Amino acid sequence: MSSSHVSSTNPLSSPIYIRAITPVDASQIAQWRYPPPYEIYSLSPEDAESLMRLEFQYYAAQDDEGALLGYFCYGDDARIPAAFEQGLYADGSLTDLGLGMRPDRTGRGLGTAFLSAGLTFGERLFGAKGFRLTVAAWNVRAVRLYEKCGFSAADAFTIPAGGVSFLVMTRSTPRTGQAQSPR
Ligand SMILES: CC(C)(COP(=O)(O)OP(=O)(O)OC[C@H]1O[C@@H](n2cnc3c(N)ncnc32)[C@H](O)[C@@H]1OP(=O)(O)O)[C@@H](O)C(=O)NCCC(=O)NCCS
Repeated sequence: MSSSHVSSTNPLSSPIYIRAITPVDASQIAQWRYPPPYEIYSLSPEDAESLMRLEFQYYAAQDDEGALLGYFCYGDDARIPAAFEQGLYADGSLTDLGLGMRPDRTGRGLGTAFLSAGLTFGERLFGAKGFRLTVAAWNVRAVRLYEKCGFSAADAFTIPAGGVSFLVMTRSTPRTGQAQSPR
């Protein structure tokens, strides 16, 4: 499936398009390296194949010139097994969202435009009425962004092995956004 949408507020002054992920995108994303303390979000070359699995619903975000900006996934791969075990994904009306921006684009105030594009895309393509994000509690940059985009913490849990705490954040009110056909 291939479709493109654009965020309505974008400090890049350039549209963000979202389209079906390609093997080339997946290979690039698997090679991205996030600097500390975000290195846990770096994938490995072996992960490229799973980004192409249809049931994981990965999509690529690109700028007006075709440069890969990041990715979104809608569904299973955005969930954490420990949260399943605690029954924190019981609300089937919510679409689980995973995301990642290209490392050199992070921390520059582009998060709102990026996430807004992914939310608009999910609403329009999947008819998503609400979203759920699972995020490491220490990742204040991501948590701050999600709060700015209307998410709030619905649950929290800690993985016993390693003791890392996570927040399950939800956003139930549909938002509106502009959509535009790819050029
Ligand atoms: C999470 C992500 C989308 C955020 O987008 P971003 O463009 O990097 O974030 P922004 O620069 O827009 O910053 C978002 C907010 O966090 C704040 N922030 C930035 N760096 C911060 C830091 N190190 N500590 C605390 N707050 C920080 C910003 O000031 C901003 O808040 P404000 O608007 O109130 O000023 C992006 O960093 C990303 O994809 N990272 C990949 C790894 C990751 O963290 N994934 C999360 C998966 S759940």
